[in-house]
Amino acid sequence: MKSIHHELRRAWEQVRRRHPLVSLLLVIRKTFRPFVNWDIFDVFETDLRLPLPESYSKGKFDVRIYGGPKDLKRTIEDLTSFNDLLPVDIELRFGRGDVVGVAYAADQVVGCMWLTFANGTELEFGTSWIMNAAEALRYDSFVRPDWRGRAIHSLLNDALNRYARERGILRTLGEISVLNSQSLSLPKHLRRVRTMRVVVFHVRGLNWTYRKAVGAPFESRFAIEPGLPNRNPRYQFGNCHGLCKIIGPVAHSFPFQTPHETKRKTIS
Ligand SMILES: CC(C)(COP(=O)(O)OP(=O)(O)OC[C@H]1O[C@@H](n2cnc3c(N)ncnc32)[C@H](O)[C@@H]1OP(=O)(O)O)[C@@H](O)C(=O)NCCC(=O)NCCS
Repeated sequence: MKSIHHELRRAWEQVRRRHPLVSLLLVIRKTFRPFVNWDIFDVFETDLRLPLPESYSKGKFDVRIYGGPKDLKRTIEDLTSFNDLLPVDIELRFGRGDVVGVAYAADQVVGCMWLTFANGTELEFGTSWIMNAAEALRYDSFVRPDWRGRAIHSLLNDALNRYARERGILRTLGEISVLNSQSLSLPKHLRRVRTMRVVVFHVRGLNWTYRKAVGAPFESRFAIEPGLPNRNPRYQFGNCHGLCKIIGPVAHSFPFQTPHETKRKTIS
């Protein structure tokens, strides 16, 4: 009972902070996801050869970067109780060289963001990223709901950009769904302009996918082939956690189930 109340409060928080049209689109998308799925992403790039803007977070937070076998145990301990990542997901990511920035308030984990150097990570529906040498992709940012609104996202973004630059990376990339207004706040603050917008529309029964990019050729950044997964195939709630936890069971009572909803979220 307490958990339902908590989820309803979180769902309301999500709805309250979103434009009503965005909330409606998210509900429609979630409801019809067993049949059709779609998203529109904006791609943002950060040139690490240029001076990096400081994070605009005002709080006292500590960011640590973890990666590799030596950090596996600690990362699993810190992150699996924090969002819906499983130990096997973290192992998978570390296994291919990804690192994670973890934000702490005192000793409490309050947020995280991932960075991959691997080419070919999955965007959605058999579409994968093309990453050139000296490029890295920021993805799967998450801030604990009660710590949102303190720009922890910007702090993590800044820490990973600086880490990437120290590793000799020249450019980081990220993609944000146009329905994710919370995440879009970061490029807005930093006055970043998207380099391309990508539309992906998938009809499950026909296994047919429509892909379209504007701003740059689709093939310049994406390949039409299954990419490296980031997660174990299992149920995900995308970028509307609270709301979708309530809608999810209804949507998933349809006869068709999506094989997996491993939508990664990457950021500018
Ligand atoms: C997106 C996310 C990482 C942003 O983290 P954050 O540290 O709260 O970021 P900010 O403090 O800069 O806030 C961003 C926006 O969230 C909204 N916000 C502010 N306070 C909030 C709160 N208490 N609760 C929820 N959202 C809030 C505001 O719209 C804010 O934008 P503004 O500053 O331009 O008004 C976080 O909302 C999150 O984890 N969302 C779920 C997962 C997700 O969508 N990840 C990103 C995928 S690209």
